[in-house]
Amino acid sequence: MIEDFSAVEVIAAKRDRNELSDAQIDWVISAYTRGVVADEQMSALAMAILLNGMNSREISRWTNAMINSGERMNWSAITRPTADKHSTGGVGDKITLPLAPLVAACGGAVPQLSGRGLAHTGGTLDKLESIPGWRADLSNEEMLKVLQDCGAVICAAGAGLAPADKKLYALRDVTATVEAIPLIASSIMSKKIAEGTSSLVLDVKTGSGAFMHDPAQAAILARTMVELGRNAGVKTRALVTAMDVPLGLTVGNALEVRESVEVLAGGGPSDVVELTLLLAREMIELAGISGKDPEVALKDGSAMDAWRKMISAQGGNPDAALPVAREKNQYFATEAGRMVSMDALKVGVAAWRLGAGRSRQGEKVQAGAGIELHAKPGDDIKAGQLLMTLHTDEPERFPRALEALVGSVSIVAGGEVNRLPLVVERIQ
Ligand code: URA
Repeated sequence: MIEDFSAVEVIAAKRDRNELSDAQIDWVISAYTRGVVADEQMSALAMAILLNGMNSREISRWTNAMINSGERMNWSAITRPTADKHSTGGVGDKITLPLAPLVAACGGAVPQLSGRGLAHTGGTLDKLESIPGWRADLSNEEMLKVLQDCGAVICAAGAGLAPADKKLYALRDVTATVEAIPLIASSIMSKKIAEGTSSLVLDVKTGSGAFMHDPAQAAILARTMVELGRNAGVKTRALVTAMDVPLGLTVGNALEVRESVEVLAGGGPSDVVELTLLLAREMIELAGISGKDPEVALKDGSAMDAWRKMISAQGGNPDAALPVAREKNQYFATEAGRMVSMDALKVGVAAWRLGAGRSRQGEKVQAGAGIELHAKPGDDIKAGQLLMTLHTDEPERFPRALEALVGSVSIVAGGEVNRLPLVVERIQ
């Protein structure tokens, strides 16, 4: 086959700050998916995009080309309104776990195609795989059946959905090209549009533990994604939310499942409950779902019923004991005062080093690894107080994890708490 362009020519155009034409974009995505453009060439192009950006026409075309690299899901057999949410990734961000069954209990259908951990951020599938028997890989028919029977399905996107993104996502992870607005926006929105949801709420994280540290950059990312969704006919809204501090009191796969179940049982940490309810209300309003109030569904056990049904339908045993790491270590306060901040990135990196995340593609994560937080910003701390418990199966991982935690909290006598509000901005 004679190719329309050469990869070198497309890379050079972006390197020299030129706009890529529609034809160049269509070709480069198709040729990369077909293996004609090599990984090293796509890496160079991704870096040129990270450094020189893309305008909204280029981002929209790039997104469409990634959608067209694969299939589109079709939920027309589902009678309930479909609603989905997507987080750009954070530390301790387990919200999808209680949220999907909660919205199902309120009358929605939640087709949640999720991912695995990227860098220091945890992945929904890695968390759920800590439940004995639970399966992330479902056929399209199985997905439809679980969604129909349970009102929610959380699973891996099949190989046919946006295959260009699958390759590019893995490449970006190992070439320091994750943090580019055009690449993040097109990666997320190509999957969400191909997934076929009719409404989508985006949870765009900002702060040290997010890919977009700066709230202004996070808001640009949010607007870019909302525009891409709207142009594709998906009702889309975004909340820019805090990721300067980890969410909740647990970071790590099974630890986060345990905390999510606490939320579904009507308890759990207040920030996790608050964000779950906020996102549930946004999803319900946007999708036009008329059912139970989410706060009632958490209290009356119907969200928990939906969770148990969904986990069982995917082969999991909701009553099985969750895996526990073999070894523990502790991190103590060295001074007294008020905890004024906690750095989500440092805690995320420590959990990652304990084995909760991967350092190489395809590596297995440890189900029990991670960190339990015993205090959060705003708490008054005594010198010598236990701040965190570290969990891993491999004790040789402790020194590097403890090293990552140095300077992770600041404790100041009479200090004022210095953190972002939970919702920084709402974009619709
Ligand atoms: N999540 C995605 O799906 N893609 C990105 O690029 C970043 C987070």
